[in-house]
Amino acid sequence: MVDRAADQAKAPVMGAAGPSVQELLDNERGPIPPVLRDTRSLNLGTAELPTNRYTSEAFSRLEFSRMWTRTWQMACREEDIPEVGDFEVYEIGRRSLLVVRVTATELRAYHNVCLHRGRILKQEPGSAQFFRCPFHGFSWNLDGSSRSITNAWDFEHIDPAEFSLPQVRTACWGGFVFINLDDSAEPLEDYLDDLPEIFQTRGWDLSSRVKTVHVHKLNRCNWKVALEAFIESFHVVATHPGAMTYLGDAYTQYDVWPERRHFTRMISPRGLASPHLGREITEEEIFQAGAGRMTGDSPRLPEGLSARQAMADAKRAFLKEQFGIDVPDMTDCEALDTIQYHIFPNLVVWAGWGSFLVYRFRPNGEDPGSSIMEVFFLIPQGDGKSLTTARRPTRLGFDDSHRGAPELGPFADVFDEDLSNIPEVQRGLAAMEGPGVRLGNYQEARIRHFHQTLDRYLES
Ligand code: FES
Ligand SMILES: [Fe+2]
Repeated sequence: MVDRAADQAKAPVMGAAGPSVQELLDNERGPIPPVLRDTRSLNLGTAELPTNRYTSEAFSRLEFSRMWTRTWQMACREEDIPEVGDFEVYEIGRRSLLVVRVTATELRAYHNVCLHRGRILKQEPGSAQFFRCPFHGFSWNLDGSSRSITNAWDFEHIDPAEFSLPQVRTACWGGFVFINLDDSAEPLEDYLDDLPEIFQTRGWDLSSRVKTVHVHKLNRCNWKVALEAFIESFHVVATHPGAMTYLGDAYTQYDVWPERRHFTRMISPRGLASPHLGREITEEEIFQAGAGRMTGDSPRLPEGLSARQAMADAKRAFLKEQFGIDVPDMTDCEALDTIQYHIFPNLVVWAGWGSFLVYRFRPNGEDPGSSIMEVFFLIPQGDGKSLTTARRPTRLGFDDSHRGAPELGPFADVFDEDLSNIPEVQRGLAAMEGPGVRLGNYQEARIRHFHQTLDRYLES
């Protein structure tokens, strides 16, 4: 993609008439933390994205050889493998990895492949004292060292000391276990730039949460088509019109920073109506639509408060009652809004307490035309509550509705609305004439930033 120099002169500005997120913060009742004030838009150019980025096998191969094999990817949650011997399987393209708890404090990842004739060692997550290949019974210890070679008399040429499972780097942040296939890649703490500090400053602690919901959905689209459908709120107007009574979609703040290479952010405010609604709406109506969605009834707007303030108060009360979360300086923004970070390449996490969602997107095998979308709920462990980790995902096929995963609750219908588009986007990209995908300068800046980051890997 070539940036047009003339377009670099000025940063794009938000054009929607109405309150910006920063103005909403100005009107909050308490102090605003610097991380919410740290907003930035960049002019990243206006070049079209060629459609072959989504459809071509050659491009997909390039992604595997230059990007997937060199970036930090979330392989699982720490609570997926709580006991020594617990293991997860993470697959990316043709690669399959075993992520193992080797001791109480040490996690390791190995290529999930038998060193004899190459059988995949484990197809599903589980727990083991050692890894035994089902084909001829060769086995390896949890620390990856060779444990047994069946009929060893026939393998004199193999030195057991040199017959360990090849290891892959692991590192943790926020309770996520990341892997990197590149031994020379920068450490995770550098890769994440200052994201961990940002989360820590505000006590947005994902590490103590528990993955209680894990849904694994196959989609007929490139992994980037699915990802890109979830990192902008621009599509709410046409795809989720039901949310317009309480979601300020067009007021969303999109942050891309020059110094932060591997993450971007958006903040979509709630508790106010979309300007696309096309009719006058009272604060009372906004409150009833928004808070009613939270509580399931029709509450009255308390005297003297805006819908946004009252929704934030209701949410704080809910967080305290349900989860024992009592953060005295929690802003309305952190209580209510979508504060969503995309961590390159494929992880999307929510900050604050507005929502407990996490998404992961990846190719389905090496096919550029199909992909896996996973949804996690990371739920805070309330006082004295013991939550059960969803170790095995609910699996949904290409043609399944998200209603096949009732644990998604009201999100199921929202995701189904999104999925009404994404296979059709893939079909359309294959059919498209002309130079390619055109992005909005501001509202789709995260998508452009993502592609430019991807290009940096593909070109180096
Ligand atoms: S392929 Fe694994 S023991 Fe033979
Ligand atoms: Fe959506």
